[in-house]
This record gives sequence, structure tokens and C-alpha cells, in this order.
Amino acid sequence: MHDILQSAAWTALSSRRDALLSTTLRELFHTDPLRGRHMQASACGLTLDYSKNLLCADSLGLLLKLADEAGLQGAIAAMFTGERINTTEERAVLHVALRCPPETRWLVDGVDVGAEVHAVRRRMAAFAARVRAGEWRGWRGDAITDVVNIGIGGSDLGPAMVCEALKDEIHPGLRMHFVSNVDGVHIGDVLRRCRPETTLFIVASKTFTTQETLANARTARAWLLAHAGDEGAIARHFVAVSTSAAAVRSFGIDTENMFGFWDWVGGRFSLWSAIGLPIILALGAERFDALLAGAHAMDEHFRSTPFATNLPVLMALIGIWNVDFLDAPSQLIAPYHQRLHRLPAYLQQLDMESNGKSVRHDGSPVPCRTSPILWGEQGINGQHAYFQLVHQGTQRVAVDFIGVLDAGREDERLHRIAFANLIAQAEALMRGRSADEAEAEMRAAGLPEARIRALLPHRIFPGNRPSNTLLLERLDAFTLGALIAAYEHRTFVQGVIWGVNSFDQWGVELGKQLAARVLDELDPQAAPVAEGVHDSSTQGLIERYRAAQREDSLRA
Ligand code: F6P
Repeated sequence: MHDILQSAAWTALSSRRDALLSTTLRELFHTDPLRGRHMQASACGLTLDYSKNLLCADSLGLLLKLADEAGLQGAIAAMFTGERINTTEERAVLHVALRCPPETRWLVDGVDVGAEVHAVRRRMAAFAARVRAGEWRGWRGDAITDVVNIGIGGSDLGPAMVCEALKDEIHPGLRMHFVSNVDGVHIGDVLRRCRPETTLFIVASKTFTTQETLANARTARAWLLAHAGDEGAIARHFVAVSTSAAAVRSFGIDTENMFGFWDWVGGRFSLWSAIGLPIILALGAERFDALLAGAHAMDEHFRSTPFATNLPVLMALIGIWNVDFLDAPSQLIAPYHQRLHRLPAYLQQLDMESNGKSVRHDGSPVPCRTSPILWGEQGINGQHAYFQLVHQGTQRVAVDFIGVLDAGREDERLHRIAFANLIAQAEALMRGRSADEAEAEMRAAGLPEARIRALLPHRIFPGNRPSNTLLLERLDAFTLGALIAAYEHRTFVQGVIWGVNSFDQWGVELGKQLAARVLDELDPQAAPVAEGVHDSSTQGLIERYRAAQREDSLRA
């Protein structure tokens, strides 16, 4: 496979790197005072300011060349035309088809997937309209008041994040709940807040084989039946979202109550499909359509805009520059809006499950770093927790600051405080505080000389910490759709350049397999695990658990 490290652009970037590391962002702003104005790109209600990255016109040009040398244009075309770019699973990758307008024909292997997509969406809209209007009734004839989505990973994070982001628009008669953890606490907490006669469960699983989801769904079914006492109630209270009708049927949900999707939709790219059922229930078909329209607008921007002004491409290239050239293997996502606090968790799966790979399509090792460790939460809380490390730690962390310009219906004064912090943090990371500045500040504050000497090293900020600032005009369905799609395409572009398959996830397999065996071994009634089956640590943990269970049952 073509080794991107051997490309002319990669080699040239490696030599540019040292020159850039010996300069500072302050100097770059000094040399080009208008840098902040022209290192920007806008699309679909989003503006990206990428000027606070250790980049110059030359290095940016080389990154764009790198995209060309990696064959990005062809890769984009291959995705949009339904080629089987998920090579290890031999599947097309067509989440972009999920957000195409109704009139679009999208042929894959002679099948118009666009028509299928819209048929499912019409069913979802009709179902949601009945629930929202109180026409879909529970077994006792009551309208639905609580919707519980049971799913995990891509069958949870996207809908949960969108419902949280657009919470103010949720139907006033519906409460939304998301259960993913299988520890018993998560579903227990939710069920205690719901009434069986007015609760609708969505069992969401692409494969419908996921242990956690099916176990939680069985608990929910038992809870419902304990109250309703009649299997007939299941059809009024359970719907399924899956690609496997057979698995749904064998679980005991009528496929009349199933909303399907297709194997060409990856789990972490699936919120636009029937996996978005909680979204359409919560927000209504119009807003779901707006979410899709925003994503579609970003798709069009992505596939038709020159790379130099292409927002997801720029985000991806800057990410690669930070990870592979500037030794910043960690990506912090810092949204300065409470409603976006689930975004980092969503992006964590998107990025790390997609590009957390060390072999390329052909199985050869990737010769460079791939997905950064992506993490974060809403930025203001971060400032009072881990921003210390971001400013003065020994590792370089790249930050995406995300802000929403429109205060919406909230207090403008408070909104301004949050925004001031966003802007100030990005500035502080960029410029830092030199020894001279720190000293002058302390002197102005009247500190004694000995104290100044002692404190000086602690009060220096190195600066030069890279960040992007991504501004949303407002937080509505359209702009949110565009934001999510921008990150999806960023992930895709990086995968293309690294040569990895961003659409499989073999790395989640081994733990699942071992968990199935350990589950049997944890049963206190089962025979003790023979020595040598596991290492001594695993063996010890299993024995400790079994002993605790026995102690519990003796106490009971
Ligand atoms: O274990 C990882 C994973 O396969 C994700 O890729 C996926 O989003 C999640 O599990 C849930 O899978 P499913 O929708 O099939 O239950």
C-alpha cells in the first residue's frame, strides 16, 4: 500500500516542522497581523478560526498537497458513489445517503437506496406523529409520556447527544431517557421514574446481538409484563430499530414495530437513520428533517469545495499536523454551551472507534500516529479541572473550542461570561505568559524580590498550544446537523490519509468474547475456575467477585 510517509508532502512537512517549532504563535501573529482574519473558513452556519495553530502558509499548502497525494478527491467520490470502502467488512459507507433530499436517486448495486431511506423515514414520521399527538396508546389506553431508548455506542450516543443539544424543543408531553449501561443501576434509575402504562421502549441495536442492550431490554420487558400481566402489551410498548428483522423477531418484538436500516450505515454514523427515532419522537419530523438538511448541506460543502476552504478537510489536516508533526496526540473538545456537553462523548466514539487503528487497509502497519485521544466536556468546567495541564503540562494538547453566538432565550449577560472565557482561553493558550511578563506582573503587585524569584517558574505559561475555534451561529437542528457532519468528514479524511479503514471496529471484539466466558465463571453456583485458565490477576478478580456474591447471599 502507498506509504504516505514516503510522499513528497510528508517529507517536506517534516522539514517545515522544525522551523515552526522554533517560532511561536505570537511571532506568527506579529509577522502577519491579519492572520486571524484569513485563516478562517465558513460553511452551513459554522465558522472555523484555525489561526491559532502552529501553521504558516507554506505548511498549510503542504498539508493540502498531502491530501492530494493521499488521493482524497477520489476517496470522497468513492464514498459518495457507494463503493465498498469498508474493505474488511466489504460494505459501502453511505450515511450521506441518509440525509439526501427525497427526490434524490441513490443507486447502489442497482437498488435505489434513496427510496428505501425515505420510505423508512415516512414510517418514522408517521409513528412519531401518533405518539406526539397522544394517539399511540399504551395497554391501558393512556398516551405515552416517557420514551426509553435502550442501546449503546452508536445506538445511544448520537440520539442522546442530539436530544440533549436541542432539549428546549422537546415535545412538552414527553420525557426522554437513554439507557446504555448494563450495571442494573442505569435501567433501575430510569424505570423508577417511569410508569409502565405510559412508557414506550425503543430497543436500538444495529446487530440486535449486543449483550448490554438485550439484557437491559429483557429487564424492561419483565418490568412491563410484571405490571401489565399480558404479553399483548409488548406491542404497545416496545419498538425495535435494527438491521436484522430475524434477530428482532427472535427477541419477541413484532417486526410490524420495527424500523430498519442497512449494513452500509456504520453504528457511529447512524443517528440519521432509524437510530434517530428518539430524535424524531422528541423533536418532531420537521426538526429531524432540519438536522438532516444541515448535515446534507455540509456533505455538499465537503464534496464540492476546494480543499483550501473546505471546513472538514481543514479540520482534518490540522489534526494530522498536530498529531503527527507537532507531537500533540491528544484532542480536547471544549464546547462552551451546556447543551453540547454530550458532544465530546459522541465524538469520542466517532473518532477513536473509526481511526484508533494501527494497521492499514492491506494489513500493513501504519507508520505514524493515528487517532488522537479525544476527550472533554463543557469547557467552563474543564477550566476549573484539567485546563491546568493544557496550559502548563508537559504534553501538548490540541483544543477545539466550540461556541454558539446566539444566546437564544438565555440570559445574555451569562452567555457573554461564557463566551469571554472561551475567547480568553484560546488567546492564553496561544500567547502564553513570558518570564518578563510574569515578573513585571508580580513586581506591579508589590511582591518582594525573593518571592518573585521563587514563583517565577510557576507563573510562566509556555503558550504555543494549538487550538481551533468553531463558532455556530445558533444552536438549532440545522446547524447541529452541519456540525456533526463536519466532524464525521474530518474523521473520514484523516482515515484516508492514514490509510486505515475508518468504518470497521475489530478492536472491540476480544473483550466481548472474553466477557462471555467470564460471565459464566462469575456465577457463584458454577464450579471454581481451574488454575491456569487465566492469569493470576484475572483469576484473583473472579474469585474475589464470587466470594463477595457468596457473602452477600449469606447476609440476605
Ligand atoms: O462494540 C462496539 C459497537 O459495535 C459499536 O460499533 C456500536 O455502535 C455498538 O457496539 C452498538 O452496536 P449495536 O447497535 O449493534 O447494538
